[in-house]
Formats: sequence, structure tokens, C-alpha cells
Amino acid sequence: MDKFIIEGGQSLKGEVQIKGAKNSALPILATTLLCEDEFEIDNVPLLRDIFTMKKVLEVLGVSVKFDKNKAIVDTRGAVGYEAPYELVNQMRASYYVLGPLLARVGRALVSLPGGCAIGTRPINLHIRGLKKLQADISITHGYIDAYGNKLKGSHIFLEGPNGPSVGATINVMAAASLARGVTVIEGAAMEPEVTDVANFLNKCGAKIKGQGTRSIEIRGVKKLHGCKYEIIPDRIETGTFAIGAAITRGDIFLKKANANHITASIDKLKEVGADISIEKDGFAVKMEKDINSTDIETAPFPGFPTDMQAQFTALLCLSNGVSIVREKIFEERFMHVLELVRMGADIKKENDYVIIKGVPYLYGAKVMASDLRASAALVLAGLSASGTTEIMRIYHIDRGYENIEERLRDLGAQIWRQEE
Ligand code: UD1
Repeated sequence: MDKFIIEGGQSLKGEVQIKGAKNSALPILATTLLCEDEFEIDNVPLLRDIFTMKKVLEVLGVSVKFDKNKAIVDTRGAVGYEAPYELVNQMRASYYVLGPLLARVGRALVSLPGGCAIGTRPINLHIRGLKKLQADISITHGYIDAYGNKLKGSHIFLEGPNGPSVGATINVMAAASLARGVTVIEGAAMEPEVTDVANFLNKCGAKIKGQGTRSIEIRGVKKLHGCKYEIIPDRIETGTFAIGAAITRGDIFLKKANANHITASIDKLKEVGADISIEKDGFAVKMEKDINSTDIETAPFPGFPTDMQAQFTALLCLSNGVSIVREKIFEERFMHVLELVRMGADIKKENDYVIIKGVPYLYGAKVMASDLRASAALVLAGLSASGTTEIMRIYHIDRGYENIEERLRDLGAQIWRQEE
């Protein structure tokens, strides 16, 4: 296992190019299963989760090769129908093969994902939506056992108690692309990654309308074909680097970043005192003033993303006042809090929110990464802290950030990877 060593205190300066969106690339790779053809998918980030998806697809008989950030996928020939526990337990998003397998093969056996560090993550909406398309689904021996030879379009309300589901919207939209008749998903997730998958499927010949709104209409077609496609930039990576600039009083340009995908985060950055200037091929973030306190509540898109909560919490530890951060999507997603406290932060957790009293500085400490975005928060805290921070179990960060330490070093950070 590797760890990061960070010598804090350097301001991040310069330019960083934002990679493709992990949360688009994963379902797009999975939905290639809907066709028997070849694909060239560009701007795929080279991450642990992407390599896990490659393995899942290979087990199903698909060939996936990489030429730098381009994935060359060949789904011709027979495909299997089982996504085994050994792969799904490495990455929940393996469940993205469920809808496509049902639609193409009429059969899917996908391991249940199991526990997750950020709280309970049910899959009832995926199952409810696919059942509405007349799939026959049962849960047996830790597997989702699904049959669906004759999927049929339907009118589906897909929201759960915490709002829409990105994963369920994509799984149902993918399956409905090859179902007979028209499907309407009400209460659909509006995240840019859902739109990206819909645009990809349309390029493959699907007939999807309304992506990016709460109501998506899918007119089933008989067959889809391969295509060339380019994945959108990763909005969470964008936001993480933006906070890197703010927390280190730096000045960086985020090349290829799409500011429209993280408006809520940009607004909060402005509120805490950052200068943002949006240009044609990205945007710049500069922080010269004290960090103001602010309150945050996570929400489905276009609200403040839960995937930016941990990183913002790290930033607000250094504010000049008191902030409240409320987590409304994954209520238990606060594993980073106790680690930040070990670095001198003053944070109190109450139910689904934390109260952060700003401190003048954080100090280096030995801390433990617990999940992907929590580890990003610890890296950000370490960059700003005085002294040395050691972050253990950084395999979590490799799931979502390509070559993070090299790219941070290019911006002036002192960060190294070492074997634990
Ligand atoms: C995706 C993202 C993840 C992000 C999350 C919310 C990927 C690979 N992951 O996860 O990074 O944090 O969106 O933006 O794209 N829910 C149910 N029943 C279900 C499914 C979800 O109740 O069947 C609930 C969840 O517990 C959560 C909420 O719905 O409270 C939203 O979750 P969802 O959008 O499904 O998250 P994921 O797609 O798993």
C-alpha cells in the first residue's frame, strides 16, 4: 500500500489540465454492452475504477484496450451475463452493467455491492425502474438475478427519499434504449454525467430526449451501433483543484474545465473570497484574501454536490468564522472529519451536519484516507498545513484522480508517494 508525504505551505500556481469525468466514463464503458460493435471513447481518465470496469467488461467477453486516454472497445461476439462479487466489491459502479446486460442478453447476474464507507447505498431504485420495464428481478445469495427478454417501455417515477439517483437513472435509461416502445423517467437525475451518457447513447443511434431535465423520454430502438465519443471534463476534479488554489492562497488555471457544471461550487468559492475568472477553455481561481466562513447543504444537481463536501469542509476549517456543512445525500459521509481534527481543525459533528469553527492554521499529522473524496480533502488540508502530513491508504484517491501527486507537484506542491 502507498502513502502520501506532503510538506505543506506552498501556494499552488500555474496551469493544470482537467481529465475526463470518471462518473461519465464508467457508465459509458458499461453501456457499450448494448451494442455489438466497435467504439473509440476519448478523454477516459486512467484510474483504478476505470481499470476495474475494464475487468468487469472483459469477464463479460468485451475487449477494452487503451491508447493513452482513448479506450478502444469491441463488444462484438458473445457476452456473458455475470458481474462477480470479486469485482463489484472493488467498485459499486460495476452495477452499471445491469441495465445493458438485461437489454442485450436478456439476463444479468450482478453481485450486490455491499457496504460503503460513505453510508448506506441502496439499489432499490435501480431494481424498481428495471422492474417497471418488465424485467424479472430477484435478490438471491448476494446477487441481483435478473431476466428481461421482453423489456417494454413504461412511465416511471424514479426518485427516492433523498431525491433522484444518478445510477438508477442511467441504468434504466440504458435498458430502455433497446426496450419496445417509449419510456419516460420522471424524477430523473439531471447531473451532467447523465446527460453525457444520454448524448453518447444518441450517438450510438438511441432516441433519448430531455436529458439534463427531470423528465427523460427514451424511444426504444431495435439496435444500436458503435461510435467515436469524447467524455466531458470531470467537474469534481475541477472543484478539487479549485479548492487547492483557495486553500493554499494560490492562483491556478483549470484548463478544459467546464464552469457550467459546477456553478454551485464556484458560487461558494466566490462567497469565501476567491476570485474566479471564466475563460473560453477553462477558468482561473485565485485567492488573496482571508477565507470567509459560509454554510453549505449538499443537494442533487444543480445543487452543491455531495462529492465536493469533504474538500469544502477542509477549506472551511481555515475560515475566519463559523460554518455549517449539512450532508443531505449520504448522511454518514463525514469520515474525514476526525482526521481533519487530528490536523488541528475545530469541527463538531451533529447528526447530518458539522459545525466548523475556523482556525488560523492546520498542522501536519499522520492521517488515514477512508474514501475517495475524503482522501482528496486530506490532501488539500495537507497542502495548506504547516509541517509534514502523511496520508495512509491512498489507494482510495487513485480511484478518482489520475496522477494527482505529479499534477500537484507541477503546480508547486511538495507531495510524494511512498510505500507504507
Ligand atoms: C453517483 C456518483 C457518486 C455521487 C452520487 C451522488 C458515480 C459512479 N457515482 O453515485 O460519486 O456521490 O452519484 O451525486 O456516478 N438511492 C436510493 N436508492 C437507490 C439509489 C440511490 O435511495 O437505488 C439514494 C442514495 O442512497 C443517495 C441518493 O439516492 O442518498 C443519490 O444516490 P445516487 O445518485 O444513486 O448515487 P450513485 O449513482 O450511487
